[in-house]
Amino acid sequence: MILPPQTRSRQQAADVLVIGAGAAGLMCARVAGQRGRRVTVLERANKPGKKILMSGGGRCNFTNLDVQPEHFLSRNPHFCKSALSRYTQWDFISLVSEHGIAWHEKADGQLFCDHSSKDILNMLLQEIEAVGVQLRLRTEVTAVSRKEEGWVVQTDQGIWVAESLVIATGGPSIPTLGATDWGMRWGESMGHELVTYRASLVPYTAHPEDRAGWAPLSGVSLPATLSVSARDWTGDVLFTHRGLSGPVALQISNYWQPGETVFINWWPHGDLLAQWHSARQQQGRQTLVNWLGQDLPRRVADWLAGDLGQLRLADLDGEQVTRLRTRVHAYAFQPAGTEGYRTAEVTLGGLSTDDISSRTMASGLHSGLYFIGEVLDVTGHLGGYNFQWAWSSGQAAGEVV
Ligand code: FDA
Repeated sequence: MILPPQTRSRQQAADVLVIGAGAAGLMCARVAGQRGRRVTVLERANKPGKKILMSGGGRCNFTNLDVQPEHFLSRNPHFCKSALSRYTQWDFISLVSEHGIAWHEKADGQLFCDHSSKDILNMLLQEIEAVGVQLRLRTEVTAVSRKEEGWVVQTDQGIWVAESLVIATGGPSIPTLGATDWGMRWGESMGHELVTYRASLVPYTAHPEDRAGWAPLSGVSLPATLSVSARDWTGDVLFTHRGLSGPVALQISNYWQPGETVFINWWPHGDLLAQWHSARQQQGRQTLVNWLGQDLPRRVADWLAGDLGQLRLADLDGEQVTRLRTRVHAYAFQPAGTEGYRTAEVTLGGLSTDDISSRTMASGLHSGLYFIGEVLDVTGHLGGYNFQWAWSSGQAAGEVV
């Protein structure tokens, strides 16, 4: 039930207070409500689940067929295993199917709604309504304290008291949606370690020199391999007027350290030198740019070939081919930075899992306190993994709060 904002003076009681009506908070509220707990969800925004609505280009990539712990980053890579194995992608797919929501698989096991992300949000809202969960919108939590009577939560709309408190406030990416780092900072103030956090699954910005060279390429997408010291990834990248985007640029941003060079292989399916050796025998009169253009978008071929573009394959000397080979296979891109929280899909880092139970998401420092979803130091790859973490961790806490 969505209720109007609270009158300021009244104090309300609940068994369970969930702060944040995003993916994790709604899931947790549903499960706790099914157990007969009196649950209230407090949400600062004017609507619940804004990130769900915005996700997957409006079609919500709600999970992935292949959910493995390797698809998640955390200082403790084992932490996510318990929750993910007890509430799996198949459990969520069953729920979606029970609600008659049509979905389809895109590349790499990613599951999307056929129609709209609204289907997922409406499903969760119907589920919490069916078990009597109260949802308070436009209610921002400002302070929380532990008293004899339980957790006392102050908001700009009044005070709530509850036995169990669930922090499901996510991370600060896309502040215009109402996202904050409040839960991370409050958790730290309660003695939980805060693992340094930053915007991730985010496009790169380029320095002016790169941007000038890339200007004619804006809007071009092509397969490439991006490498940083910790990882490489092959798939589509997109030149933008500000830098580099596309799924692979976003994926590698999870592993990139600020200041690090990203090496790009624009021709990931073969060795340019070997192919040039055989091509110069058979098509030696062809210009370099035409030859590169057989495998690469024409504008990219032009840019990579540069001054050499109009030379015939047979006329290129060894030094020129070596230089070209480095540019094509190991292009050194030094990002100026990233687009930051303005466009980032997630926050990498967050509250350390060290003092959290991987089975229940309960704080080991304070009884009756739980942290779920993105507020924790668990971040998924692009592809439905971050929602799966929200569903699984929400379920884990919902079973015990
Ligand atoms: P979430 O951010 O969803 O919810 C937190 C809630 O807490 C918010 O509603 C916020 O307003 C509220 N809140 C914060 N502070 C508060 C306070 N002090 N008082 C009260 N309320 C407060 N993932 C994926 O798997 N597939 C996808 O397709 C996408 N696509 C995508 C697109 C875009 C544009 C973004 C930004 C993100 C994605 N994601 C995604 C990531 C995914 O949306 C994200 O990981 C989950 O929504 C995290 O769920 P949580 O419930 O933890 O936080």
